[in-house]
Amino acid sequence: MNFKIKSDLSIELESIFNMSLLNGIAKSEYQIKNLLEQPNDTSFGQMSLPVFSLSKTLRLSPVEIAKRIAEFLNQEKHKSEFLKDVEQVSAISGFVNFKFKTSYLTNQLLNLVNTDNVGFVIKKNNKKLVIDYSSPNVAKPMNVGHLRATVIGQALRNLSVTQGYEVVGLNHLGDWGVQFGKLAWAYTEWKSEYDFKNEPFKALFDMYVRFHDEAEKDNSLNEKGSEVFIRLEKGDPEITALWKMFVEISMKEYQRLWDRLGVKHDLVRGESFYSDQLSDTVALVEQKGLLELSEGAYVVNVGEDMPPCLIKKSDGASLYATRDLASAIYRHDVLGSDLNLYVVGVDQTLHFKQVFKTLSLMGYEWAENCHHISFGMYRFKDQGKMSTRKGRAIFLEDVLNKSVELVKEIIETKNPSLENKELVAEQVGVGAVIFNDLVNDRVKDVDFDWSKILDFEGDSGPYIQYTSVRCLSVIEKFNFDIINIYNDKINFEKEEIDLICVLLGYESVLSLAFEKFKPSLVANYLLDLAKSYNSFYNKHRILGLDDKDLSTRRVLLTIHSQKILSAGLKVLNIQVPQKM
Ligand code: ARG
Repeated sequence: MNFKIKSDLSIELESIFNMSLLNGIAKSEYQIKNLLEQPNDTSFGQMSLPVFSLSKTLRLSPVEIAKRIAEFLNQEKHKSEFLKDVEQVSAISGFVNFKFKTSYLTNQLLNLVNTDNVGFVIKKNNKKLVIDYSSPNVAKPMNVGHLRATVIGQALRNLSVTQGYEVVGLNHLGDWGVQFGKLAWAYTEWKSEYDFKNEPFKALFDMYVRFHDEAEKDNSLNEKGSEVFIRLEKGDPEITALWKMFVEISMKEYQRLWDRLGVKHDLVRGESFYSDQLSDTVALVEQKGLLELSEGAYVVNVGEDMPPCLIKKSDGASLYATRDLASAIYRHDVLGSDLNLYVVGVDQTLHFKQVFKTLSLMGYEWAENCHHISFGMYRFKDQGKMSTRKGRAIFLEDVLNKSVELVKEIIETKNPSLENKELVAEQVGVGAVIFNDLVNDRVKDVDFDWSKILDFEGDSGPYIQYTSVRCLSVIEKFNFDIINIYNDKINFEKEEIDLICVLLGYESVLSLAFEKFKPSLVANYLLDLAKSYNSFYNKHRILGLDDKDLSTRRVLLTIHSQKILSAGLKVLNIQVPQKM
């Protein structure tokens, strides 16, 4: 969908709706923008306005309305007044079609060519955005749920930079809570049975799993764990040292995965960071008269439509929500956030509703700038192919490894002489997993199906990477100077015009994707662009034409296509291979 052309056109059309021609039914620029669409068959124009929705009010058939609008706009004086960039307006069965002047399209394209940082807004907006993503739980491997929190978060972070925000990427590491009492207890009892020297993270997780298995049979273990956590909350040096070690072991493990995924945080502010602020936070809630005692625990009643928000347990221990309250206040007061995003799965919807409601009851107006960016779960089509250690969650690292392994096999059959096979397999394998995640509307569940994820000709990450590589090989073979060959008299082929229209849409796709917090719009746009480039490539010769100007023009289109494919992949945090 071409947003740039849409915006320009809807501004121009706004005024005709207020005229007597249409009985003065006012439509705002925004409404018109929603009506305008890009026709499947672009031979009659690059933008089309369906008028069916006006039929009832005007008591005229859509065919008649479209005809009248087109006739009106085609009068020379209106054309120059409203639609200076439109060459032809035509009415076809209830649609008004707009065909843009070649000069408009080429000028727009040239503007784009001359921007270095394509897609980035030039002016900073002086707003600060804090975004919480990935945020795994110490001692537990990142699972595919964290994959979503990681890649959606990083893509939104990249998107917000393009929109001029100053961004703080936050890791709200799950490093506090009663489970650390449990772990410390288990470590003291069982450490000799595990290989902490060689496989520290595995040892930690195995111990964690064992604790839970044994606690199911013997509840006294849970009580012991809780006691040790209280000691940790009071700052007991021995337990604190153990806790520090657990955090370090885990962070090392996560760092490896973040490096593979190209993920970066600016700050680690784990839950433990707030531990010494929690009594103040609870006191603040109390001062506002919101704290209530319920069955021995302190809660805030957040309204009829949801259960109360738990603030403090009967044994005095703090809770996940308490730490999120302290953290939200920190993000606003200390980090100065104007917008506060939490990229976390749909299963924590209630938690964030309770926290945000509590903040707003506390009188913080900025609570409305806190958003839970929720996402659906993974559905594995072929579970059997994915080894699930201990039959529990599916681990992120296993998924990445499997993908890279499968890509290696594909390379061996398709292009065994490729240089840097290992590197390319990593770029393509990891990119495929990221793309498969991001191409889905985040609120929906994601189907995980290897044959689709790695289909080089389907709607996949490799397909886009491959198209970029294809562009690069055209550009590489081109060996004469680029001169500016765009002018008004050029007769573009249909596929060229279609491609230009897609290229022009990039900037508006970025801003819309940010506005809706949906990286999927960028991913789907890249699919459109790759498809559009490939139909151009398959239909028309680019290199070695007798008409040098024509060759140059087509190479220029290839250069811009590659530039935007690569910029878009970078926004999604997917690597751009040079060859594959
Ligand atoms: N550690 C949590 C989990 O893995 C996610 C934390 C999300 N952020 C937050 N501020 N609560 O489920």
